[in-house]
Amino acid sequence: MPSINIHLSRSSVVTIDGLAASGKSSVAQGVAQALNVPYVSSGLLYRAVTYAALNHQINLEQESEILAWVAHNGLKLLPKNDGNQVFLNAHDITEQCHSSLVDANVSIVALHQNVRAWVNTQIRALEKPFVAEGRDMGAVVFTDAAVKLFLTASSLVRAQRRSLERPEETEQIKAMIEARDTKDAVNSGAATDAVVIETESLNLEEVIAASLDAIAART
Ligand code: DC
Repeated sequence: MPSINIHLSRSSVVTIDGLAASGKSSVAQGVAQALNVPYVSSGLLYRAVTYAALNHQINLEQESEILAWVAHNGLKLLPKNDGNQVFLNAHDITEQCHSSLVDANVSIVALHQNVRAWVNTQIRALEKPFVAEGRDMGAVVFTDAAVKLFLTASSLVRAQRRSLERPEETEQIKAMIEARDTKDAVNSGAATDAVVIETESLNLEEVIAASLDAIAART
């Protein structure tokens, strides 16, 4: 990991947004480790709500049922700088949240504005400083973040990266990613003051280094 002399103040947040499989989590993890702060995966909370709803046969279109369930059960995100965990009534459900079934359904749940409000409340209540990773961290949730980054790459490159973590073929993953891009578009976007990092031809270390350069230039 690059050694870096950046100090985030106690109230600081760095946001890293990007489309599905753009490498946000890995980059957020590398940046958080270099800054010696935790990272916060907002997507993992959307995934946890989706997993729970699927598991309890709640119709994913029924926002009020999902919210009622969430209100009566303990879903808790544990941010760290080497990964995030999510617990449901004290059971670690992190692994189950990264299944292809959750991948295929999470965009439906993330469209509900009251689910989004619930996720945003959880995340804003976490102790700062941290790196927040997702789709709308810079544009909506932490509009006054110290630094905002937005990662981009083509759907093919994102599918090739994701194929290392999923059993399906790259072509199928690419189709799923494109379907998710379409559904997620309404809640995804770079803040007007975000630094856009094109990751197409960069490896993970290079994207982390570019992110740290952008942070160093603005803190
Ligand atoms: O980053 P991810 O693939 O783990 O995110 C899972 C889903 O959650 C993604 O399809 C869109 C949604 N999401 C969102 O709408 N807003 C966020 N801030 C983070 C994720």
